[in-house]
Amino acid sequence: MKDIKIYNLVRKEEKRQKEGIELIPSENYASSEVRKVLSSYFVNKYSEGYPKKRYYGGNENVDELEILCQERAKKLFGVPFANVQPYSGSPANLAVYLATCKPGDVVMGQALIAGGHLTHGHSVSATGIFYKPFQYSLKKDNVYKNNDLFDYAEIRRLAKEHKPKLIWVGATAYPLKFNYKKFAEIADEVGAYLAADIAHVAGLIAGGAHPSPVPYVHIVTTTTHKTLRGPRGAMIMVTNKGLKKDPELGDKVNKAVFPGLQGGPHDNTTAGISVALFEASQPSFKKYAAQIVKNSVVLSKTLTDGGLKLVGGGSENHLLLVNLASVLGDGSGVFAQKALDLVGLTLNKNTVPDEMSSPFYPSGVRLGTPASTSRGMKEKEMKFIGGVILEVIDLLKAYRLPEKEPASAKASAGKGRKDYIAKFEKEMMANKKLKEIRLRVKKLALRFPIP
Ligand SMILES: Cc1ncc(COP(=O)(O)O)c(C=O)c1O
Repeated sequence: MKDIKIYNLVRKEEKRQKEGIELIPSENYASSEVRKVLSSYFVNKYSEGYPKKRYYGGNENVDELEILCQERAKKLFGVPFANVQPYSGSPANLAVYLATCKPGDVVMGQALIAGGHLTHGHSVSATGIFYKPFQYSLKKDNVYKNNDLFDYAEIRRLAKEHKPKLIWVGATAYPLKFNYKKFAEIADEVGAYLAADIAHVAGLIAGGAHPSPVPYVHIVTTTTHKTLRGPRGAMIMVTNKGLKKDPELGDKVNKAVFPGLQGGPHDNTTAGISVALFEASQPSFKKYAAQIVKNSVVLSKTLTDGGLKLVGGGSENHLLLVNLASVLGDGSGVFAQKALDLVGLTLNKNTVPDEMSSPFYPSGVRLGTPASTSRGMKEKEMKFIGGVILEVIDLLKAYRLPEKEPASAKASAGKGRKDYIAKFEKEMMANKKLKEIRLRVKKLALRFPIP
């Protein structure tokens, strides 16, 4: 019996993905081989525990699968230990706290508003509730030039003052390469564990298009579904440096994942991660990783040539962060996100380092090239996409986010931000030029099938 409602939603999502171009830098297309094993018989199994130490019977194939997955991860990233069971990136990061800290211990990470992830100690995350975070930001000056945006003197000062047990390096919105060595010098000076969260750049590292943190950090966490192009999942790896600091670090990570935080691993996901790791170790993946960066550079240049300001002056990885304040005013990310959505270019509003608005109404947008590159798009298509973004942004110049939300709903009567945005959306949906651009985007998208 077919569940028509769900089936129809799947068809609608398929159409949306095929007819649009995905520019959200954390998204990608898993290969059909990855998707095949995700819905394989492994989906039916329970296997609490670790290979050869399970709480359930019938795990002989799962044991082989999980060991193979660990071995592939270790080989690809050059580490002596890998746990492949975390359900996703956030629980993987929480497991690192559990393995290295006691509740209330001081931790450090990049602030969310500066491009860090919630799980690096944000106050609304369990990591900021159960631990004591001191967060670092990016420089506020010269952020539109191509230079390292981290203020190492300030990070060192914070570390020396607060003596964290754990420091995070890694981000969810940072367009340049990381200098892991400089973070390691600071962590080593204060005796902290240094964990690299490579969720965004894992595929670039695997493909040799971004430096690896492995020689410098104790722990590496990653999601498996972004540039690594696997299923939704995560891994925690311990480096030789990590085992030297604490020979029991691998065991501690294992205990933190299970039984600390999780029950049975998702064996079908383990199968999908194994296939993704196999694919990422092929020569074609090196080409893919290099093309992601080439595409990002061309897209950046198209946008800067068109007069837009890019954080970091451009992109050295898969991601671009555009500050729209100078062309559309503070808090204008929402206009760009909504209008570009209408033409079939999906990206997200985002804060910028010198943000003058708020995280809910940020002044920038974040976009990237991993998904479009998976479809086979190259420099020529990036110039087209960049041109479309410029055309759409040009149509938005008459709009400005109202200063503030009126104090009461009654007082707002059509003057608040929400009303203004609703009116904006209505006008955009009726805009003839946007409809014409939408056809052009769809035509390009259909020429590049998704895997
Ligand atoms: C750097 C970084 N770490 C961790 C995560 C969390 O991953 P998940 O959404 O799978 O929990 C993300 C997700 O966006 C991320 O960008």
